[in-house]
Amino acid sequence: MSQRTLVLLKPDAVRRGLIGELVGRVERKAGWTISALELRTLDRDTLERHYAEHVGRPFYEPLLEFMTSGPAVVMVVEGERVIEGVRALAGPTDPIAAPPGSIRGDFGTIVRENLIHASDSEESAERELKIFFPSLF
Ligand code: RTP
Ligand code: MG
Repeated sequence: MSQRTLVLLKPDAVRRGLIGELVGRVERKAGWTISALELRTLDRDTLERHYAEHVGRPFYEPLLEFMTSGPAVVMVVEGERVIEGVRALAGPTDPIAAPPGSIRGDFGTIVRENLIHASDSEESAERELKIFFPSLF
């Protein structure tokens, strides 16, 4: 089942020079296509829409501060079961709990600075792609 998903390489990944490494992991999956890719400094308004489900949580304000702290890479990735697949490449939210071999498990230690975002369902992908790539609709 071909799908499309929103992937963000967060500002920590860009600062640390990991764009090539992380894009490469996505790119090497057979049959997946990166159909849009841009270096973009995210504004608060966009992030408030993206992270609306987390409003009021203790980590919400620090998360927005982090996500606006430098440029991110915003991507659309398409292909077979890509929503589940990029989540699997990323690993669980907490990088210490994430298994080695996953992006978060290989490169992260801090829950907030966990390198990558990927849509978690078809509904989320549709909602998030509308926020970051409205011209697709
Ligand atoms: P994401 O949305 O970024 O793909 O990550 P996720 O689904 O694995 O995690 P989620 O629960 O949606 O949380 C969104 C992002 O908020 C930061 N976070 N910090 N306790 C904390 O300090 C905390 N909890 C979450 C992380 O950057 C997480 O990816
Ligand atoms: Mg999430």
